[in-house]
Amino acid sequence: MAKIDFGGTIEDVVTDDEFPLEKAREILKNETIAVLGYGVQGPAQALNLRDNGIPVIIGQMEGDQYWKKAVADGFVPGKNLFPIEEAAKRGTIVKELLSDAGQVATWPKVQKCLNKGDALYFSHGFSIVYKDQTGIIPPDYVDVILVAPKGSGTNVRRNFLDGSGINSSYAVFQDYTGKATERTLALGIAIGSGYLFPTTFEAEVYSDLTGERGVLMGCLAGTMEAQYNILRKNGHSPSEAFNETVEELTQSLIRLVGENGMDWMFSNCSTTAQRGALDWAPKFRDAVAPVFEQLYDRVKSGKETQRVLEVNSAPDYLQKLQVELDAIKNSEMWKAGAAVRALRPENRKKNQ
Ligand SMILES: NC(=O)c1ccc[n+]([C@@H]2O[C@H](COP(=O)([O-])OP(=O)(O)OC[C@H]3O[C@@H](n4cnc5c(N)ncnc54)[C@H](O)[C@@H]3O)[C@@H](O)[C@H]2O)c1
Repeated sequence: MAKIDFGGTIEDVVTDDEFPLEKAREILKNETIAVLGYGVQGPAQALNLRDNGIPVIIGQMEGDQYWKKAVADGFVPGKNLFPIEEAAKRGTIVKELLSDAGQVATWPKVQKCLNKGDALYFSHGFSIVYKDQTGIIPPDYVDVILVAPKGSGTNVRRNFLDGSGINSSYAVFQDYTGKATERTLALGIAIGSGYLFPTTFEAEVYSDLTGERGVLMGCLAGTMEAQYNILRKNGHSPSEAFNETVEELTQSLIRLVGENGMDWMFSNCSTTAQRGALDWAPKFRDAVAPVFEQLYDRVKSGKETQRVLEVNSAPDYLQKLQVELDAIKNSEMWKAGAAVRALRPENRKKNQ
């Protein structure tokens, strides 16, 4: 563990300096790692493990689109690609990387496949923390562990390939074997985490659900729409409104914030932008603070997960979702966005 000062709070973190990949390989060498689910996280973690020299098997519903994707990625049916139950039976570390609703649906079968001393691994605290809603209560003879990458599975893979990694939190909920922590850290390093920081299943799921509903997606989408609308209402063209709201953010500013922080951004813009942004930031903070209070309360009380499970397990879930997604795609703002993206030089060249 390395002790790092995060703005005055000292936290323990783990990188491959403290926990080299070689050590992870040694710890995992006699394990059979079964990755259940080949959606977004499943392939990313499975392929990173495989590229790091740690064999994995995949559990997936036979013959469906995800199964075909696994075959396309080099997994061989009957060798290292199996139906979910079969993979869960073979695994000594069973990675629950089905969708959260899929974990609920398959739990009655999966739990019967767990043997004494196995590890049940999650990348989200959802199933365990909201056990009253999910019914997922692991037997007391397995380790229950978590490594939660703080990024999309797409980037877990992409950043692994470019050598940059995605940071992950890790937690142990149940340590039956006495080896739960070393198993967790070995898996965290082996999937290519940038650095690992400790959490609990509860803290992981509360922060994750708040983050994705908040700044990462919900708040971001809502705020962008509000700004776009006010510009359009005042007669600005779609191109101008979109550039001023999204394109400048994604192509310029947020990259610089990622590299250097908001403090640097404030001191490296025009004095006009600086004065205005410094004045308006607290107004936006105060305007959204009550919404964040409401959001965190709903997450903690289980209302958010209850809604997810109810909506996502309805038989017409996918059709209804598509209607919502199409409405966004066909809105003027995101159609303008498609036009702006198509005009980027690299895309114009591609289309020539
Ligand atoms: N998507 C991400 O980038 C991301 C990031 C961090 C953590 N996580 C966590 O990782 C886990 C996997 O998430 P994901 O987004 O990769 O999942 P996903 O939504 O892509 O899941 C698709 C997988 O779930 C399976 N599935 C869905 N319903 C099923 C059912 N009823 N029966 C059997 N299988 C079913 C599909 O066959 C497929 O394998 C979740 O716990 C999620 O919270 C995801």
